[in-house]
Amino acid sequence: MGKVVQELISLKNIHFGYNQTKVFENLNFTLKKGEKVALIGPNGAGKTTLLYLIMGFLKPSQGDIIIFGKPRKKDKDFIEVRQRIGLLFQDSDSQLFCPTVKEDIAFGPLNQGKSRKEVLKIVKEIAELFNITHLLDRPIYKLSGGEKRMVALAGVFAMNPECYLLDEPSTGLDQKTTEKLVWFLKKNVETFLVVSHDIEFLKKIAHRFYLLEDGRIKEVSPDSL
Ligand SMILES: Nc1ncnc2c1ncn2[C@@H]1O[C@H](COP(=O)(O)OP(=O)(O)O)[C@@H](O)[C@H]1O
Ligand SMILES: [Mg+2]
Repeated sequence: MGKVVQELISLKNIHFGYNQTKVFENLNFTLKKGEKVALIGPNGAGKTTLLYLIMGFLKPSQGDIIIFGKPRKKDKDFIEVRQRIGLLFQDSDSQLFCPTVKEDIAFGPLNQGKSRKEVLKIVKEIAELFNITHLLDRPIYKLSGGEKRMVALAGVFAMNPECYLLDEPSTGLDQKTTEKLVWFLKKNVETFLVVSHDIEFLKKIAHRFYLLEDGRIKEVSPDSL
């Protein structure tokens, strides 16, 4: 008997456009449990749009979205998706909305129903791991761009999601922090889809590469990049 491969995310024949701008026509994409996938493509290709469709922030005009084995159509279908899949927004200001760093990192795990005590422990551990303990009581608006990026990532990691969708995670990070992120993604993360223009970064973490261009996705060899 063959090994059962679990499809975590499956997009089938997706059509999507913003008013006049057609982005996807018949797009197909699958992410299986255990896959570490890089998504590359030119600016405006629709990478962020693809992640928003998976999270249910945008709805396709045609096609099926199946996540964790269930079809997802209405807003309520995506509540579970957002608890089990962690999205890092391309723009950290879209991610961070609590008054302080501590509260922002705590938001996800609290929303998953964890106790205050458990959440405090998680926040402390994640902050130590990424050297942001000194920022925990800081208001978000007093952070630099790179610090915001790190706090946004910490918030996603704190949820310990089954699957990570990271939209240009290394943008604004210094070399040391990027190396820490590489290490974390290799050691602690089983399944992800990472969007980036940083090919060297992607080559360190991803097993498969997909190119999104002209509304289509195709697998490409990392050696060709
Ligand atoms: N809210 C929006 N309204 C109208 N057009 C949008 C909106 N967001 C993105 N677009 C357009 O959709 C296309 C895909 O955008 P996006 O998914 O952000 O691309 P990428 O992340 O690959 O750079 C681009 O042409 C972009 O200009
Ligand atoms: Mg984008």
